[in-house]
Order: sequence, then structure tokens, then C-alpha cells
Amino acid sequence: ELADIGVLGLAVMGANLARNAARKGFGVAVFNRHGARTDELISQYGSEGRFHPAKEIADFVAAIARPRPIIIMVKAGKPVDEVIEELIPHLDEGDIIIDGGNSLFTDTNRRFHYLTEKKLRFIGMGVSGGEEGALEGPSMMPGGTLEAYSRIEPIVTKMAAQVDGEPCCTYIGTEGSGHFVKMVHNGIEYADMQLITEAYDLFKTVYGLDAKTISDIFAEWNKGELNSYLIEITAAVLAKVDSTGKPLVDSIVDEAEQKGTGRWTAQSALDLGIPLTSITEAVFARALSARRAGRAEAEKLLPHAPVAARKPSPADIEAIRQALFASKIIAYAQGFEQLSVASAQFGWKLKLDELATIWRGGCIIRARFLNRIREAYKAGGGASNLVLEDYFRDAVLKAEPAWREVVGLAVASGIPVPAFSSSLAYYDGLRRARGPANLLQGLRDYFGAHTYARLDKPGKFHTRWAQDGEEVQVSS
Ligand code: 6PG
Repeated sequence: ELADIGVLGLAVMGANLARNAARKGFGVAVFNRHGARTDELISQYGSEGRFHPAKEIADFVAAIARPRPIIIMVKAGKPVDEVIEELIPHLDEGDIIIDGGNSLFTDTNRRFHYLTEKKLRFIGMGVSGGEEGALEGPSMMPGGTLEAYSRIEPIVTKMAAQVDGEPCCTYIGTEGSGHFVKMVHNGIEYADMQLITEAYDLFKTVYGLDAKTISDIFAEWNKGELNSYLIEITAAVLAKVDSTGKPLVDSIVDEAEQKGTGRWTAQSALDLGIPLTSITEAVFARALSARRAGRAEAEKLLPHAPVAARKPSPADIEAIRQALFASKIIAYAQGFEQLSVASAQFGWKLKLDELATIWRGGCIIRARFLNRIREAYKAGGGASNLVLEDYFRDAVLKAEPAWREVVGLAVASGIPVPAFSSSLAYYDGLRRARGPANLLQGLRDYFGAHTYARLDKPGKFHTRWAQDGEEVQVSS
């Protein structure tokens, strides 16, 4: 009997996806460049289901029922192209290569068209949920042609996490849209985590709380509207003690690494002209954190008066919670705007309510909150910005005083809160019908004759600022 699907690349994510499919009753052909990994998988987990291990690519491909769905789980970048080239000679018309890694969406666009020309099919599928998600049920974001998706739908919808009887997997759109959506998911993940670390910093530095106490606060928050996977694991990470009996987190080096998806999200936002401030600040905060030696040097030369720690009152704790919640709303509003603009620009017809739906389970940003986003977009998402939808509008209005107070406290204490404060700045900029860019336009026109529009009459104008001071109309 032939396998229902193939998985190529058996590092943790690939191996767990293969086991996931096998456990759900599918026959799974497995292949890894180094055969030892394949042997290991079979010897440890072979009894979990119907595996077809192969040591040669040709045997691997031959073991799968046509048209063959083959998930490749290799490092993003060149390895994906290499594996595709290795597979091509063995494939038949209509076979489907599914890239389940964190590939850059423009690479996926290219591969989609390249394989289409070769009469093969390509699906760029975002897979979120880490190791555990891959095994127990991830959130899956497949992009490609709808008919290619229809072929794999019965398999991937079973492999995905399920929430309220709905799979956390749906057809996203054509070309690299699945990887684009996963990229923005990761960008939001960056912002979510940055907001959490800023709240942690305030508790630790301004209020002098220890890791255990902060852990308890996050555990409490996880019971309310902030309920989410990331808040839950924050409580767990903060509660962990190492073999010395001290909080592990206090011994972890404060340098954040990154593999690229957050940076790509910010780059794409710049290209699309989206004010994606929260995610971008989160990327920059990681970059600054990575300069550890430079920070140590600067701390000596630019000493900072220690913050006089005082115990937080319940109201102080609540204020930080509200600031976090409001900032989180802004981060999601910005991320969803990026999805909406990209969809229009690239002709992908993304269904924003369905994205919120498949992010409710399996993935890293899974949260109760996503139900609200889903409802807002299901109801038509009439407002131009998620922040203006009833639930979110009420929430930010309610949080606003606390949000200002917390950002003010951070600034006064010399504690950087780039995600909290940039979210508030975005909010303040968004809700102003008239901002200060009139002056900016005047400056541009002064030095570069870039022209400006007027409030009181139509057309484009230029003033000969440094000559005779006359204003001329340059277009109607
Ligand atoms: C997920 C995660 C996953 C991975 C990130 C980490 O959705 O399961 O986002 O894809 O953990 O890519 O990214 P950084 O290494 O850039 O933090």
C-alpha cells in the first residue's frame, strides 16, 4: 500500500509532522539526507503508525500515492531550492511539493511559478506551534492553487490543531500568501513577546519584584482577557529554578537572537507603507539587546541613577496589564492592516476572519483574544482599522489612562518600553484628524518644490519661499 504523504527533512519539526500524520492514520513516507535520522525516527516511533522509510530519494517518491503530496521541512533559503531540484527528476505531473518551513514569501512566489511551469504544484505552507504543535496539531497556513490545496486538505486539516471543532488550517490564497501570513504571524509573535518583556522589566526594575512574584502576576493575567499561550509560558519560564535553586531566567544572557521573519515583516511593511510600529520596534529591541558589549560600555559612560524600587499596589499591577492589553491591540491592528493591504496589492483575497480563526489554536500567538478579531472581521470588519471595531475601541478607551501612566512611569524611570510607547504614539497619531505634517509639507516645498495641497481649495501648490514669496498653483 502506498503512503498518503511524504515528509522530507526529519529534524525535530519534520519528524514531528511525520509522526503527527502517522498518528492520525495516514501512511507517511519519510526521508532524510542523513539516513541515521530516518532510522532513529523509525526505531523510536515506528510503532505510532504506518511509516515508509526510504534511504534514496527515488524510493521515497515511489512510495507515495499520486498525485504525491510531499512536505519538505528543511532550513529556509538555499536548502529549499536544493531539495526541490533533487526532487524534480523523480516527480510526475501534478505532484505537490509543500514547503513547511519559514521561507521568505518572495522566494515562495518564485518557486510557485517555477514549479507551475514544470507542471508541478507548489504549496508554501506556514506551520506554527513549534515542536509540540508539529506533533500534537499546529496551525497551518497553506498558500498555492486552490486545487492543489484540495488534494491535501483531508490530510492537513486532520493534522492541524482543532478549536471548537474547526481545524486551525484553511486555504490562504495563491502564490506565497501562506508564507506571507506566517511571516506576519511571526511579526505579531515578536511584538507580543516584546510587550511581555517590557511588562517584566517594569515589574523587575521599577518595582523590584523577583521572578517568582512576577510569574504569579502573569499566571493571574492568564485567567483574564490576556489569556494566551505566550502569557502562560511566561509564567512558566519565570517560575523555573535551575540546579542552584535560583530563578533560571536571572542567569539567561539578555541577548535576543532572530532568524528573520520579524525583520521581513518590518521590511514588507516599509515596502507597503504600513505604519507597523510595534513589530518593528520589537525587531529593533532585539537588535539593541544583541549589542551586549556596547551596552555594558555605555552603562559605564552614561550611568543611570538606580530606580528606587517600591512595592506595586494592585492598581499599579492592573495599570501595566491594561497598558499591555492596549498595546497588544495596536500590534494586532497593525499586523492585520498589513495583511489587508498586502492582500489588495498582491491580489490574494485573504480572508482576515479565517486567519484569526486558524490562529486560535496550535500556533505561538494563540489567544482568547483572536475570537474577538474573528468576530470583528466576520461581521464585515467595516471600520478602516481594527482599533475602531466596538470591542477593541472600548478596550483601548478604557485602558488609555493606565497606558499613559505606565509609559510615563517608564520614561521617568529611564526604562525603555519601545513597544508600549510606540503603540501609544500610534494610537495618538491615529485618532487625530489633523496632525503636524502640514509643516512637514511646507518644509518639503521650501527646499525641494515638492508642492502641497491646501485645506481651503483644490489643487497642488508651490510657494516661491525664498524668491518672491508668491504662491503658484501647479496642478488642479
Ligand atoms: C512558530 C514560531 C517558529 C519559530 C520562530 C522563531 O510560529 O512556531 O514562530 O516559526 O520559533 O521562527 O523565530 P526567531 O528565531 O526569529 O525568534
